[in-house]
Amino acid sequence: MSRLGIIGGSGLTQLESLEIVRREMVRTPYGEPSGPLIIGKLDGHEVVFLARHGYGHTIPPHKINYRANIWAFKELGITKIVAAAAVGGIRDDMAPGKLAVPNQLIDYTYQRESSYFDGGDSGVEHIDFTYPYSQRLREILISAAEVAGIEVAKEGVYGVTEGPRLETAAEVNKFEGDGCTMVGMTAMPEAALARELGLDYVTCAFVVNWAAGRSDTIIDMKDIEKYMLVGSKQLRQLLAAVLPLL
Ligand code: HPA
Repeated sequence: MSRLGIIGGSGLTQLESLEIVRREMVRTPYGEPSGPLIIGKLDGHEVVFLARHGYGHTIPPHKINYRANIWAFKELGITKIVAAAAVGGIRDDMAPGKLAVPNQLIDYTYQRESSYFDGGDSGVEHIDFTYPYSQRLREILISAAEVAGIEVAKEGVYGVTEGPRLETAAEVNKFEGDGCTMVGMTAMPEAALARELGLDYVTCAFVVNWAAGRSDTIIDMKDIEKYMLVGSKQLRQLLAAVLPLL
């Protein structure tokens, strides 16, 4: 049985009740990952965990070394990754507190190292990315949620912004017009890098605020923190349901 890789996002810099076996700082050709990867047991199942913003949440989304992070998982033999992500809800059915397993994304980022195939010695390759998330892993997450009675949106389109600022209301209108149902800052290039290395990758998004202009007020960080707590609890429950199915 292969170990599951878990990437924690904002609000998930550590995993509740993870029994830590060891920490490993993996050196990669792309520099250092966000921190040592934590190898441990979650409900008796071996997992490898990494907080993408660092364990003290010190790395903003546009400064994360995504290439080193994904490389490090591959180096430790990981073939499947569940990535947590806090997002803003754009469409009516993406209210704060909602958990979602997006099936599509749109990349609006513009200044990240986004590929292992950088030409020269690294070569030039064009991966298929029609369906950016692993369909098999998405189905496992969705059926685990159903069995455990956890409500999840079975689809969603994740618009990925450069950040670290939040969006303007007009930007969110544009994203909605493009088809995005949620907005966040970290799904890219993470998902594409995982595909380049042949890893199954899925995002579990939790909605922590209404996206800019989608509520009567401006975005309040206190509310976001509250929903991050809700989201990380739901995600922990979902992981408990997913692990026995892998
Ligand atoms: N926009 C972008 N990223 C986010 C948001 C948002 O509203 N909420 C959480 N991450």
